[in-house]
Amino acid sequence: MKAQIIVVGKILADTQAKLDREFTCHKLYEAPDRGAFVRQHAHAVRGLATFGPSGADAALMDALPKLEIISNFGVGVDAIDLAAAKQRNIIVTNTPDVLNECVSDTAMALVLDTLRRFPASETYLRSGYWATRGAFPLTTSLGGKTLGILGLGRIGESIARRALAFGMKIRYHNRNRKNVPYAYDADAVALARNSDVLLVATPGGAQTSRIVNAKVLDALGPDGYLVNISRGSVIDEPVLLGYLKEKKIAGAGLDVFDNEPKINAEWFGVENAVLYPHVGSATVETRTAMGDLQVENLRLHFAGKAVKTPV
Ligand code: 8YV
Repeated sequence: MKAQIIVVGKILADTQAKLDREFTCHKLYEAPDRGAFVRQHAHAVRGLATFGPSGADAALMDALPKLEIISNFGVGVDAIDLAAAKQRNIIVTNTPDVLNECVSDTAMALVLDTLRRFPASETYLRSGYWATRGAFPLTTSLGGKTLGILGLGRIGESIARRALAFGMKIRYHNRNRKNVPYAYDADAVALARNSDVLLVATPGGAQTSRIVNAKVLDALGPDGYLVNISRGSVIDEPVLLGYLKEKKIAGAGLDVFDNEPKINAEWFGVENAVLYPHVGSATVETRTAMGDLQVENLRLHFAGKAVKTPV
């Protein structure tokens, strides 16, 4: 008998095919009435395959009394109620490490695009301005600048290695000081003050909610840049919008936002920001590896073994 699981959202076809081979999958995203669908399968469902923003809340856990495991596609589990899962002895797994390289590539692309304004320079060329207005205005170099990494986890360290190769200096702030050759700052304000580019790589969730606020942006200053590849929730977004418009910081590069994908339409008009639609891990290779790890955790659990990547 295959174990029965609920698949919360539409996932990579390759991952869904692998899930279908090993489990009986009930696709919540195809259900016209989600409540009725959950009630219909509640007696048999032992696993949940969820992803980033969909997560799983306490109400869903309560509605599935036989739930044993929540296997998340993505490293960030801020949308899963971890305390509620713990209370109910539900295992939670995520997909760390396999996305480090791609997310760090994205971080560096944002740093490059934000300081060097490559997207704007391309738009300039496509608008025909090169011949009519002359050379694109000069921008600012990465080399010699200080990158302050807020949250030096696995992804943060991978970004640091890349930034070093670009000739940048590295500083960081983290909950725990680490055994690394980078200068440490005691808090986000100090890090911002000592950095040219503040790069947010913390987990999302309550502990980091809006920690990049007006004080931090003041410390970053009018020549400073902000890059975020973590979660929109880490930044006070309305404050950031104001600081960008008033040029109280020089620019921002963002892969994550509040209310994705229906982000605040004010962003569309902010010319000193480079905006990506949450593509940090979005390659075929990385998303396939993330899916494989999601499936493997479910497979191990239902084979009575320890999961590979518990949260
Ligand atoms: C994914 C992410 O885009 O891993 C994460 O936490 O934010 C991204 O890699 C997301 O999980 C997709 O569901």
